[in-house]
Amino acid sequence: MTGTGSLLSHLECRSCCTRVEADRAAGVCPTCGLALFAVYRLDDLDWGSWSASLRDRPRTLWRYRELLPVRGSEAIASLGEGGSPVLPLTAAPEAPDVRLLLKDDGGLPTGSFKARGMTVAVSRARELGLRSLFVPSAGNAGVALAAYAARAGINATVYLPERTPRPMKEAARLYGATVVELPGTLREVGASARSREGAGGSFDMSTLREPYRLEGKKTMGWEIFEQLAAEGMPDAIVYPTGGGTGLVGMHKAFQELRSLGRLERMPRLYAVQPEHCAPVVRALHEDAARVTPWDDPSTIAPGLLVPAPFSSERILEAVRESKGGGVTVTDAEIVGAVRDLARRDGVSASPEGAATYASLRALVRDGRVRSGERVLLYNTGSGLPFSITELESAVAASAAA
Ligand SMILES: Cc1ncc(COP(=O)(O)O)c(C=O)c1O
Ligand SMILES: [Zn+2]
Repeated sequence: MTGTGSLLSHLECRSCCTRVEADRAAGVCPTCGLALFAVYRLDDLDWGSWSASLRDRPRTLWRYRELLPVRGSEAIASLGEGGSPVLPLTAAPEAPDVRLLLKDDGGLPTGSFKARGMTVAVSRARELGLRSLFVPSAGNAGVALAAYAARAGINATVYLPERTPRPMKEAARLYGATVVELPGTLREVGASARSREGAGGSFDMSTLREPYRLEGKKTMGWEIFEQLAAEGMPDAIVYPTGGGTGLVGMHKAFQELRSLGRLERMPRLYAVQPEHCAPVVRALHEDAARVTPWDDPSTIAPGLLVPAPFSSERILEAVRESKGGGVTVTDAEIVGAVRDLARRDGVSASPEGAATYASLRALVRDGRVRSGERVLLYNTGSGLPFSITELESAVAASAAA
């Protein structure tokens, strides 16, 4: 075996501090049922020689392999993911004095940031001997699981809401996954998937219910640091929030950088959600410890239709510790932002990613983003699977209803 040099030590629950051995497949905390986090022996990392060695490594997220959980290179199932660009945007009329950057994950394999989590989680699953994986997904995570499972030679089953965009359903099938379409939102689909799979031996790869997708997502924060720290980290990062792993992952990266003595001040993290499915934003405004499920949710952005995110304690903690907050946008604003990003900046954004651009008006109006600040918007996926005409008709139909 060629070792990766992974410094993975163990898994730990941040709610009840239970420690779990890392070299056996693990899902949630055996004591309290919340998310487990990978812990690394950061003291063993010699920053000087490590950061020098990063310069010669390929620009995939596996460049951070010492701080990822996979121990043997042979287990790695990679499609060249990571290393996405940070693009400067033209000044937006909605926020003329704000310096805008956009981290664009639309060009990643399988078309979204979900590739980050799945390359790491599927590789680790292979290393731990798992042969069959399943995931309930709004679309992108299912496509990514299907692709990486194909790459790793592992069986995958993907549970999708019936209303998932067709190109995503077809892509998951094309990669050889079993695709099961079910009624409802991710909440109902997730519950049904888990009860169907039961103790059948297939491993649950749902957001935050297994510990290693988060490790892949944390590379969003590591890349932002590597790309921007020399000129100064952004003041704020605006992120489209569904299951919340992106926020929790970036926060974990910034915590690791802080422990390593490399980061003094974290960027403020802002969670953007659609007005009719905003459980995280509501919990932030109400100062609640956890999210309560959102009744009758709806939005045109499939990845943000998550009415009851799991382990929401961790999402709220990430936003609060960074001194950020929550903001909502309407579906009409999201579609307008898809158009604006395309015309003004040549960027193909998913509705989820465009939601960050749509939130600028409110962030500036409420004084949460100030003149002269540098703000990084996270585009989590490509706009290509979406028809702008269909998105506009969906907005018109819901306005008429
Ligand atoms: C394109 C896109 N953006 C954002 C999200 C939400 O991601 P997170 O779980 O990190 O909040 C999803 C989830 O499905 C997605 O597909
Ligand atoms: Zn626990």
